Amino acid sequence: MDKTKILFVCLGNICRSPSAEAVMKALVEKKGLASKYEIDSAGTAGYHSGEPADRRMQRHAINRDYNLTSISRKVNAKVDFDHFDYIIGMDDQNVEDLEYMASNDEQRSRISKMTDYCKSFNHTSVPDPYYGGADGFELVLDLLEDACEGLIEHIENE
Ligand code: 4NP
Repeated sequence: MDKTKILFVCLGNICRSPSAEAVMKALVEKKGLASKYEIDSAGTAGYHSGEPADRRMQRHAINRDYNLTSISRKVNAKVDFDHFDYIIGMDDQNVEDLEYMASNDEQRSRISKMTDYCKSFNHTSVPDPYYGGADGFELVLDLLEDACEGLIEHIENE
């Protein structure tokens, strides 16, 4: 059976989307579903391409046992929109940028926003924590843990 392929996307691919990748990988592992999923992340901008995740984000993540190992890369529109089944932005700007990069409606139909899958939180985006303090990084992880639970339910119930 084909794996379900998920690409998480934020602006820089050093804070929110690498965390989403790690949270989702840990969740599918915990549920015994890891072999059914391919999970990756990317940024709409390439400012940080080749860099590991932001050290502050890494520190907050490791406190919850998530090890952020991914290296930042920019979305590759030529490849990613045909490869991934779910292309999930963290905020409205990410979604707008992804919709602009997609080349047809079928590709556009694969795009969604992370908070659409939240079960407990009513937030409409995963806010960019880059210029803020510790609370912002914790909120990112809280939102991602909630949304990943909803996302896996959504996919497994399809
Ligand atoms: P991310 O956070 O999109 O969650 O990775 C940011 C990282 C870097 C910048 C902005 C947001 N930046 O402006 O360099």
